[in-house]
Amino acid sequence: MRVTMIGGGYVGLVSGACFAQFGMEVVVVEVDERKLTALQNGKIPIFEPGLDNLVAENVAAGRLSFTGNMDAALVGAEVVFIAVGTPTRRGDGHADLTYVYQAVEQVARKLSGYAVIVTKSTVPVGTGRKVAEIMRTARPELEFDVASNPEFLREGSAIGDFMRPDRVVIGVESERAEAVLRTLYRPLFLIETPIVVTTIETAELIKYAANSFLAMKVTFINEVADLCERVGADVHDVARGMGLDGRIGRKFLHAGPGFGGSCFPKDTLAMARIGQDAGAPQRLVETVVQVNDARKSTMAKRVTTACGGSVRGMKIAVWGLTFKPETDDMRDAPSIPVVSRLVEEGADIHAFDPEGMEAAKPQLPTAVVYESDAIAAVTGADVLVVLTEWNVFRAVSPARLKSLMKGRVIVDLRNIFDPVAMRAEGFAYSSIGRAV
Ligand code: UGA
Repeated sequence: MRVTMIGGGYVGLVSGACFAQFGMEVVVVEVDERKLTALQNGKIPIFEPGLDNLVAENVAAGRLSFTGNMDAALVGAEVVFIAVGTPTRRGDGHADLTYVYQAVEQVARKLSGYAVIVTKSTVPVGTGRKVAEIMRTARPELEFDVASNPEFLREGSAIGDFMRPDRVVIGVESERAEAVLRTLYRPLFLIETPIVVTTIETAELIKYAANSFLAMKVTFINEVADLCERVGADVHDVARGMGLDGRIGRKFLHAGPGFGGSCFPKDTLAMARIGQDAGAPQRLVETVVQVNDARKSTMAKRVTTACGGSVRGMKIAVWGLTFKPETDDMRDAPSIPVVSRLVEEGADIHAFDPEGMEAAKPQLPTAVVYESDAIAAVTGADVLVVLTEWNVFRAVSPARLKSLMKGRVIVDLRNIFDPVAMRAEGFAYSSIGRAV
């Protein structure tokens, strides 16, 4: 089966490589010259464990290729995935669909025979219908179907998530389109992955509802963590005690500095807007957006408080900048407001992140010093702030930290250390949701 994947970003690249691995012939269309040249030269513009090997293997096998020429990529296409960006529109919080519609117009002009046009980007409810309208207006004679196939992969474990998903969701309007998509995902059905077949609108909403629910879970435990600190409880035990109830589930109950990334902030905001426009306000989701934004901007205060009220002139080591580990993605990372605030307040920041420092530079104040590793960052520091839970940080023992640091203050916003061990070494250790 010949698949055209429009968009060589996170979702497009991972899905394209995985479909190629399933044996499909995949052409990824990327309009950004720099990204395209990198891809054509075997360089993966994003950091995602295992992706470089997967791409290389499938390119070598002749099943995966990259082009900037959409027209050529559409020749003979049986499935066209739209996996372009849908950023938050400036001013109103809606998803910006400019790139989606531009892609559809080009597809409409060039498609030569029956194909299923599938939205894989997260798109507001109703987008599938509009895509069909654009196609029909441009090419009334053409046979096509539109479908929605939202993607649930996480950055950092994208390939595993794609290859072993909890479910595949497809929104379709015809049996023909359903059959095409079932063929495409056949290897997953062989491992008994459940498939949810719905209308297009329902599939579109499933994606927003799933991401918003997960974001709500994280926000819920973050507020419970604040409460734990006040009443002398431990958020890890609360999360475990709650999460073992199968109706609640243990995942996404890890308290931290607030969610970030390219999906939760954008999708919660968009879902709130969709609800308002439809006359069915999503009040819980609206609150999640507000509570999370407020949380990220108050995290710096925890550091100032731990330092006795001022960070002026202090050397602060920052471990981790990306919004989560195993990615180089800095989008909406809590480190941005935290580090910016600490610099404003006169701190001397020495940061290290295993993958995110290049992406961090344009986002953080120029005064930040980037170190070559975690040890260099923390050597001689008055304070250590942990912002992302990379495994490499967990490996450093409290005794080692004591020998490297000048000061004795640690603010661990990801709870990667054991408070008892830290205190035994004489550290003033503060973390999230664990009574001081
Ligand atoms: C998220 C969803 O998990 C994916 O299912 C979805 O496909 C993706 O968005 C998307 O829409 O493309 P991702 O943004 O890669 O994936 O990252 P997550 O692992 O979900 O983490 C999101 C944020 O929540 C991070 O800032 C993370 O630190 C935070 N988080 C997550 C917590 O603070 N606590 C948790 O327990 C879990």
